[in-house]
Amino acid sequence: MKQMPLNARGIPASRLVLGCMPFGGEWDHSPLTDERAKLSEAAVEAALSIGINMFDHADIYTRGKSEEAFGRILKARPELRDQIVLQSKCGIGLADETLPARFDFSRDHILESVDGSLRRLGTDYLDILLLHRPDPLMEPEEIAEAFGRLKASGKVRYFGVSNMSEAHIRFIESALTDRLVVNQLEMGLGRLDFVEETVRVNQTKGTDVNFSHGLMEFSRAENIQLQAWGPLAQGRFTGKDVSSESEAVRKTADRVAQMADERGTTREAIVLGWLMKHPALIQPVIGTMNPERIKACADAQRQADQMSREDWYRLYMTARGD
Ligand SMILES: NC(=O)c1ccc[n+]([C@@H]2O[C@H](COP(=O)([O-])OP(=O)(O)OC[C@H]3O[C@@H](n4cnc5c(N)ncnc54)[C@H](OP(=O)(O)O)[C@@H]3O)[C@@H](O)[C@H]2O)c1
Repeated sequence: MKQMPLNARGIPASRLVLGCMPFGGEWDHSPLTDERAKLSEAAVEAALSIGINMFDHADIYTRGKSEEAFGRILKARPELRDQIVLQSKCGIGLADETLPARFDFSRDHILESVDGSLRRLGTDYLDILLLHRPDPLMEPEEIAEAFGRLKASGKVRYFGVSNMSEAHIRFIESALTDRLVVNQLEMGLGRLDFVEETVRVNQTKGTDVNFSHGLMEFSRAENIQLQAWGPLAQGRFTGKDVSSESEAVRKTADRVAQMADERGTTREAIVLGWLMKHPALIQPVIGTMNPERIKACADAQRQADQMSREDWYRLYMTARGD
């Protein structure tokens, strides 16, 4: 069986990852509040209680406040650092009064971004650094220089990407000495393109699919760990009000609820189990901050293991509106 990324102590990452994007609260320039920091702490506690040991960040999440909130937790519990796998991302510049929204894979931006993340998180290393979204102005040699320096200084152990195609990965790797280990993309019952791309080849309906051709198979063959953002479909199949959504969404929510009842489990475990049954061994990056919803994900692996091919396809067909 393929192994999840290891932390500095050789501990494998958990299959589920807690996405820390909302930890900081608002995306404005207001400071982190104590109240928000406490909510983040409760989310981390809930995650740890169900065996989640991997946490996903980005330099831009709530303009740095999400990393800051996590840094407060690490400050209070320094022993946690060696027990977890900490991932962050760089490469997006948010718009402000003077600058436009942009991507930036320049050497200096990458180096400065990592220093900022380390400062806010209160740690001296990241286990994994991802390039957040493709920068059309990227130069692989510059990326390689930044990655080389970060690795040599011990600031980053492994590198990966997010929202990238096979071509992007091959292009960036052309200048790297180490292979990229992760690609994080939106995948799940609420965003089916990762399955549709395989199923719809040579079908007229396949023209609407927005997922890099062959990426699932390439990632498996090259042993690149796939991570899924949006794996809970932002709650659309697990209890959020979907009365004004499409028939496919409403039917999927009903089907998920029925399966959860029949199996004596939670709706979250069914939705995540569906994603985790895919043989690519995708790591769902769950984005809920609600401790009860986090704990409701605990049974996901068991549901994946027990889900039949027929149940998997029935849910997929329902979600795609067939
Ligand atoms: N690489 C990228 O480009 C990228 C992009 C986006 C996100 N990410 C990462 O992926 C993580 C997860 O992304 P995501 O937030 O889109 O994933 P998600 O897990 O599908 O959705 C989480 C969101 O859905 C809400 N939710 C879940 N169940 C609900 C329910 N029953 N009723 C109402 N609301 C419900 C949560 O609110 P509550 O907190 O109230 O439960 C939260 O806002 C992020 O934290 C981030 O780390 C990466």
